[in-house]
Amino acid sequence: MTSQVLIVDDEKDMTRLLKKNLELDMDCSATMAFSARMAVEILEKSEFDLMLCDIRMPGMDGFELLEYTREHYPDLTVLMLTAYSSIDVAVEAIKKGAYDFIPKPFEQDEIVFKVQKALERSNLLKENTRLKQEKNGFFGKLAGESPAMRKVFEQISMVAQSDVTVLITGESGTGKDLTAQSIHSLSDRKNRPFVPVNCPTIPEHILESELFGYKKGAFTNAQRDKKGLFQEADMGTLFLDEIGDIPPMIQTKLLRVLQEKQIKPLGDTKAVDIDVRIIASTNRDLDRKIKNEEFREDLFYRLNVLTIHLPPLRERPTDIPLLARHIVSAHCKKLNKGEKEISDRLMDALVKHTWPGNVRELENILIQGIVYAESGTITCSDVPIGDLDSGTGSRTAADFSSLNALPYREAKEEILRQFNHQYVGAMLAITNGNITRAAKKCGLERQALQQVIKRFDIDPEQYR
Ligand SMILES: Nc1ncnc2c1ncn2[C@@H]1O[C@H](COP(=O)(O)OP(=O)(O)OP(=O)(O)O)[C@@H](O)[C@H]1O
Ligand SMILES: [Mg+2]
Repeated sequence: MTSQVLIVDDEKDMTRLLKKNLELDMDCSATMAFSARMAVEILEKSEFDLMLCDIRMPGMDGFELLEYTREHYPDLTVLMLTAYSSIDVAVEAIKKGAYDFIPKPFEQDEIVFKVQKALERSNLLKENTRLKQEKNGFFGKLAGESPAMRKVFEQISMVAQSDVTVLITGESGTGKDLTAQSIHSLSDRKNRPFVPVNCPTIPEHILESELFGYKKGAFTNAQRDKKGLFQEADMGTLFLDEIGDIPPMIQTKLLRVLQEKQIKPLGDTKAVDIDVRIIASTNRDLDRKIKNEEFREDLFYRLNVLTIHLPPLRERPTDIPLLARHIVSAHCKKLNKGEKEISDRLMDALVKHTWPGNVRELENILIQGIVYAESGTITCSDVPIGDLDSGTGSRTAADFSSLNALPYREAKEEILRQFNHQYVGAMLAITNGNITRAAKKCGLERQALQQVIKRFDIDPEQYR
């Protein structure tokens, strides 16, 4: 696989020469940054196997950039370039975490040798990290230790390196997006764009011009040429999310693109070559759509060269503890909430629950748990599902679908009842059924809370 190298040096001509020589002599692709700041920006967008970095640069210097990468990209191997081949500068850089240094002016043989060695080290480091991660049940951003998810991880590794079209199937919230991203980031295209297209959210009449672009004057509002998403994704990956919803006319065009590897922007007479890897997803029963002739069978076969199926969470409950802990730790960091753990009872309830919304629902509920938990432990009363314990489907306060059949007044009363049971119940649970303390938490007088408790027939005893 082509190695990605970042060269950071303010001497532009030298940098260009170095890039040319490296690319000539080894299987690598070099990106140039003419300042440390520029390097920081580039590092945010792309992943590299190796950074070659000059020490003396105006503004942020090589040492500072080295420190920055040690902190943010600890796995990135760094080779320092220095015109000051004095041993102490080099030693200092190595002490700060650089792998090695190369004195300027370079000898081509020496640089190729050192870069090769550094890349070997980088690959080893990455492989180690991957193995460690895998042992802990992680595959990049995907968590899972059930046999079903291990199989998914294996499939992702297998398909990533080739350019085959992949169809990802699975219910909503099972990780289709994340899987598509993983395939892209493990492929040779990883430093090129990953362009997701959420097909159902784009209106039918815009989808075509969004995908294929248009020429100025192609229609009334086309005041200038516009590149389509296929062109945006050139050399990268286009992720067609929810492909089952694509209207027939666009299905036909898409089929042609897949066959001819060319697109024709609206209003253009010339076709443009494109090099795009396609990943598609569907949570629908595509087979049924094909039978009903709502989806073209020939397009389906083009897309479905390989399928990766993401099983729903209810079929892999053994993944729930790992997922839950991973989600809580990631979101605690994001929300600056310190570290929080999940109580045993809550974990038990999470594992038993059936999760119609899959990982996304688990994630939403845990985020609310993080926000509501007052201590370092998230408990059942911190999460917004009243019937979590019963393990049957989920209902949140915002889901009114079961009330459709009721007249307005009764529906309103039912919602009030549900809300009060959930909300007051949570407050009583936190305070072990102490009404005075619960009232304080609610910002109500004790008497007022007592009235609510009576009116909605809530049992504080249950929480003592
Ligand atoms: N195996 C997993 N490990 C960690 N996080 C996951 C996993 N699967 C899903 N998630 C998280 O759950 C949420 C939903 O995942 P994602 O968007 O990939 O699902 P999806 O199948 O594309 O959903 P939808 O059908 O709604 O588009 C995301 O926040 C994602 O980070
Ligand atoms: Mg999605």
